[in-house]
Amino acid sequence: MRKRLGIISLFIILFVGFIIIWNYSYQTGLKDAYIPIIENGDSNGVFLSENGVFKNSELALEYANMPIDETHQRTLETYYNNRAYYGAPPFIPHPVKEERSMGGNTCLQCHQSGGFVAKFDAYAPVTPHPEMINCRQCHVAETAETLFAQTAFTKEQAPKVGVNNALPGSPPMIPHPIRMRENCLACHAGPAAPKEIRVTHPERINCMQCHVPNNTNGIDTATFIRDNNNYDE
Ligand code: HEC
Ligand code: HEC
Ligand code: HEC
Ligand code: HEC
Repeated sequence: MRKRLGIISLFIILFVGFIIIWNYSYQTGLKDAYIPIIENGDSNGVFLSENGVFKNSELALEYANMPIDETHQRTLETYYNNRAYYGAPPFIPHPVKEERSMGGNTCLQCHQSGGFVAKFDAYAPVTPHPEMINCRQCHVAETAETLFAQTAFTKEQAPKVGVNNALPGSPPMIPHPIRMRENCLACHAGPAAPKEIRVTHPERINCMQCHVPNNTNGIDTATFIRDNNNYDE
């Protein structure tokens, strides 16, 4: 009788233990709700999302209400002169305080949101990429006016502005690639924007709602995106 009771209670203990363990593993197996996102493989950094256009949008209304300071405007000519070729990182045209720093806050204190800098008598251009904090990896000071040796290198011509509208008054197409140029307001708005491309309507922050990449002339955006993607045709 005792023996039988012992076997029955052992069985009950094992059974209850099984239920507890099974229930525990069942509960932990349940996940929170999630959305299965399929990664599209390596996009090569090509513009696949439009959220970059909203990056500087908190400054948009200030840009819209700011009076234009005619005496300190930049032009596209000086803008291109500071670049070795079209799309190249511009030189640092001013002295740098901490010669041995990578950049980061030493640069972002002026280049994150821009503003007038009395000692350089100019507005600081806003960087479209404040997250790339190793600024001096790509931006260097110009140390010589001439070349070390002659080369046959010719600068690629930048696309023209003011000729990208399909009809007078219609929104011009974007004549340039959008890779690393997702943050439209950084270059097109505010007092440091070159006057030819300074937008009259910075407050319409969803730029790509009206402006579409041009793929028929200048730099061919469609070919650019296709060549940098690996999808099958
Ligand atoms: C005290 C504010 C200040 C600091 C700090 C500063 N800059 Fe500037 N930067 C300016 C101003 C103002 C201009 C515009 C100069 C002009 O137009 O003559 C400028 C221009 C530039 C340009 C040229 C942009 C263009 O579109 O041609 C680059 C590149 C640049 N700075 C990089 C840097 C880097 C990198 C650092 C950090 C090592 C840095 N700056 C630190 C104020 C600053
Ligand atoms: C990986 C390289 C790289 C790094 C790192 C980098 N930049 Fe740039 N930067 C570029 C290139 C390339 C351009 C030109 C973009 C173009 O013409 O589309 C540029 C353009 C700029 C411009 C001019 C924007 C304009 O009006 O055309 C400023 C200002 C600038 N960078 C500041 C900075 C600062 C400040 C940092 C650090 C926080 C930084 N950059 C880090 C490559 C870089
Ligand atoms: C790094 C600076 C920079 C960024 C970021 C940038 N642009 Fe531009 N944009 C320019 C320059 C410079 C030009 C003049 C042509 C050229 O050099 O490519 C231009 C030209 C244009 C033009 C043609 C204007 C005309 O009158 O024909 C449009 C439209 C335009 N950009 C829209 C955009 C939109 C929309 C975005 C954001 C997705 C954007 N840009 C981001 C620098 C920039
Ligand atoms: C609701 C539609 C719409 C939105 C959103 C919009 N634009 Fe425009 N944009 C236009 C139209 C229309 C023109 C042509 C204006 C003209 O010819 O008088 C224009 C002209 C331009 C030009 C040529 C210079 C000028 O101001 O006339 C640039 C550069 C430009 N837009 C950039 C931008 C940028 C950057 C943004 C985002 C901050 C933006 N646009 C948002 C409709 C729009």
